[in-house]
Formats: sequence, C-alpha cells, structure tokens
Amino acid sequence: MSTEPLQSVGADPAPSPCTLVIFGGSGDLAGRKLLPALYNLSMDGVLPSEIAVIGTGRKELGDEGFRQFAREGTEKFSRQAPERTHWAEFESKLFYHSGSLDDPESYVQLRRRIEEVELEAGLPPNRIFYLSIPPSRFATCIEQLRAAGLVSDAEDPVNFSRIIVEKPIGHDLQSAEVVNETLAQAFDERQIFRIDHYLGKETVQNILVMRFGNTILEPLWNQKYIDHVQITVAEAEGVGTRAGYYEEAGALRDMVQNHILQVLCMTAMEPPWSLDPEAVRDHKLAVLKSLRPIRGEDVGREVVRAQYGAGFSSEGTAVPGYRQEVGVAHDSTTETYVAMRVYIDNWRWAGVPFYIRTGKNLPKRTSEVAVQFKHVPHTLFNRDPEHLLTPNVLTLRLQPEEGFAFGISAKLPGPKVKVRPVQMDFGYGDSFQEPSPEAYERLLLDVMAGDSTLFMRRDAVEASWRFIDPIFEAWSAGGARWLPEYDAGGWGPIEADRLIGGTRDRSWRQP
Ligand code: BG6
Repeated sequence: MSTEPLQSVGADPAPSPCTLVIFGGSGDLAGRKLLPALYNLSMDGVLPSEIAVIGTGRKELGDEGFRQFAREGTEKFSRQAPERTHWAEFESKLFYHSGSLDDPESYVQLRRRIEEVELEAGLPPNRIFYLSIPPSRFATCIEQLRAAGLVSDAEDPVNFSRIIVEKPIGHDLQSAEVVNETLAQAFDERQIFRIDHYLGKETVQNILVMRFGNTILEPLWNQKYIDHVQITVAEAEGVGTRAGYYEEAGALRDMVQNHILQVLCMTAMEPPWSLDPEAVRDHKLAVLKSLRPIRGEDVGREVVRAQYGAGFSSEGTAVPGYRQEVGVAHDSTTETYVAMRVYIDNWRWAGVPFYIRTGKNLPKRTSEVAVQFKHVPHTLFNRDPEHLLTPNVLTLRLQPEEGFAFGISAKLPGPKVKVRPVQMDFGYGDSFQEPSPEAYERLLLDVMAGDSTLFMRRDAVEASWRFIDPIFEAWSAGGARWLPEYDAGGWGPIEADRLIGGTRDRSWRQP
C-alpha cells in the first residue's frame, strides 16, 4: 500500500504569522494539550517560524515559569519529547502575562505586552485569543478584549483577530444562545472557532475521505443497502477528578450533544460540492436538521440512560460506583451511559436506525462507526439456520487502533460450500509509519490558517441543542430517583440491549 500522505479534509493549512494568547495559560488544557501540540507542530516544521505564544492567568509565573510549565507538560503529554536545541528555540517564543480576567487595566497591560512582543519578533498584529477559561467568564473577557482595542474588524484585509472557544457551549439551547450572542458582540462568525476536538482526530476526518475519495462506498451508502449504523464511543475510565463538572453535564451533554453528533454528521452527510468550510458545514447542518425529534414518551423508548455501579476496571482493579465517587451526590441521577436510536428523516437514510452509545467505565477505550449492510436478497449459501450468512459490516475504527475493517463472506476451504465471514483489515499504524498528529495540532494550525471547516458553526451548535433539549425535558418531567445501573467494566445496562433488539442481526458489537 502507498505511504503517500493522507489527503487532508479542508484546505491545506497555510498558517499565518501570529500571536496566540491563551487565557487560562497555566491551566490543565494548556499544559496537557495546547503547549505540547504547539511544540509538536514546531518539531514537524509546520508551525510558522514567526509566532509568539503568550499565556495569561492569575498565577505569577513570569516568562521563565511559563516556559518551565510548558516543558513539564510537553515531557509528560507530548507525542515527541522535548529535544534540547529545538526546545530552546521553541521556548524563546513563549511569554507570560499575569493578570485578572476582571481587571480592565490587565487588558491594557496585555495589549502593551502583545505589541512589545510583536515589535521584537517582527510579527504583524495577527492575534488569536484562546479562551481556555470557564464559559461563565467569556462575557467579561470578550468585553474587555474589545474595550482594550484588541479585536480587529473581520473585514480587515490584512490583519486578523480570531477567537477560539471550547465546549461546553452552554448547557442547553438557551444558554448556548447566550454564549453565542456574547461572542457575536465582539467577533464576526468568521472570526470564531468553536473547538470540538473529535473533528481534529485524523480518523474522524478520514470518514469523509473514505466516503468521498473512493468510488465503491458511496453508491451503497443509503437506505437501500444499509441495515443500520452503530456509533460507539466507549471510555475505560470513570469520572476521575471531574465530578464537579460531570455532575452538571452527564454523558448526553458531555459526549452526545457534541462529539457523537459530529461523528454522525460526518457519517451521514450528503457529498458537499467542495471542501469550502461553508459547504461542508452546511451539509453537516442539514443532517442535524433532519434528525427525527425524540420527545415526550418517545424518550423512554428511544433513549437509555444508566450509571455505573461498582465493578472492575479493564486492569482488574476494583472501582467504586458513580455515586460513591468523590464529589458525586449519593443520590445523583447524572447518567454516565447513554444509548439511543436515532433516525435521520431524509431520502438517503429513511428507515435506517443509527444506534449510538457512550459511557464511562466500559471494558475498554474504543470509538468506532460500524455500518452494517443488509442481507443479500436471495440466500444461496448457508441456508441452515444455524449458519446463516453474516451481513457485511464496515467498521471505521476512530481510536485507539485507528483503521477500518470490512467483514465479507468467503468460502471455507474444502469440498463443501461453507461460507464464513472474514475480515479485510487496514490499520493506520501498519500503512503509515508516521504517528497521527493529535487533534489539537491540526485544529490550532487551522485557526492560524483561518480554515474553519473543522469547527462548529453557531447554527450547528444550536441545532444539536435543539435535538438534545427535549430529551432532558422528558427526563426531568419523569423525575427519576434511580437510574438503571451497569457494572463498571461491563458493556452497559440490559436496557441498551433491548433498545437495539438483541437479535442475531441487530445487537451491539463488542469492539
Ligand atoms: C471530552 C469529555 O470532551 O472528551 C470527556 O469532556 C471525555 O469526558 C473526552 O473523556 C473523550 O475524549 P477522547 O479524545 O479521549 O476520546
């Protein structure tokens, strides 16, 4: 197989020289993801050499302290360890400004600092503001950025200001609209980059390449040939130290509203006429708009929620039940698992169920999209009910063993015609020697290039909430005191098996 680089989704990034300002610069995301991602980009020679990164936060770190923080994060979390000479060059581009989010004077000083850095490094006034801070602080920060004259006009033909925000964008439609309005007060939609890190994953982008870069799949990719689709995002870890956040979120908000619906959109969207960001995002939005609403009594039939009880991790160590976790209410009804049956009411997908599931403390960390095709129309082989033909399944493995597998029927060697399923398998690791870049690497580069293809547009975020909100409404109207439980380390509750049917042709895959 050729080892030519994968064709990327969206325009090939051509990042511009810029200054990246990270609010929450000494926080968890910066240390684990952002700074290591920038270092990797620089190691790979794709980060513009004309760049400065200014971390800001309340801590009094100073430039040296910030560089040390970045080094520790890179040592621990980067796919490439800091290499001596290269690190020295990279860290010379890192700066720190300490200040309070509420203090207008701090933004005036920040502006001065940015201008100094730009002058010294010969950088144009292209600024990217990364808000790695709680959404409740967005409004203050954005208002102050504007008041300090740090936001340039979207129409400026030469220089740019861009803003990056992370999920959660609200906790329901109404609050998402408030966040989006806040952003819109200072920034044009073209300047706003809402990150869903799943879209930065190589294999999620590869869904489009698989579908639209090959001739054989697309003619079959519809209700005529597909029986159903399963999307699984399983996590092996429990809630860990994030109970404070998770208690308010739960699996539906944390994973389905954003990541899983995005993967669903990539799987189900119509072919866009080009890779222009708006064309791609318009077609994804059309999927969200075609989702059959699940509300009222339908919620009980179409959605299963559950909580992990005590059990064992994949390594065999005992783990507590969710309600025994530190920071979790002893009578919490926050779901750590969701499974649902979703229909896309359009020409292509009429009548094809999409089964989606996600949960914490499942047997392993694995994400995949499995497309199960219909049976052949007439049975010639394996008429014996014990050995019926197995339908073809195309599995797109998103993580961790990235690749795809196609299950097809083949004849067993021997004088009789006996047919068994075999796997055609492709692993990224085997075919492409290079390790895949981390999602944040791709996404940061795209913001520097001004390519918003892989970012969430306002209308898509709001359309996702419009689909999700009625499920919460039905849950709170039902007023559950206890949720079904599944053993930590197991594949989820029995109710989820009932949802999919639990028949020979429709049952959850065990990836
Ligand atoms: C985050 C969720 O968005 O995604 C976490 O808040 C979850 O709860 C994580 O663990 C999963 O991301 P990944 O890339 O590890 O699959």
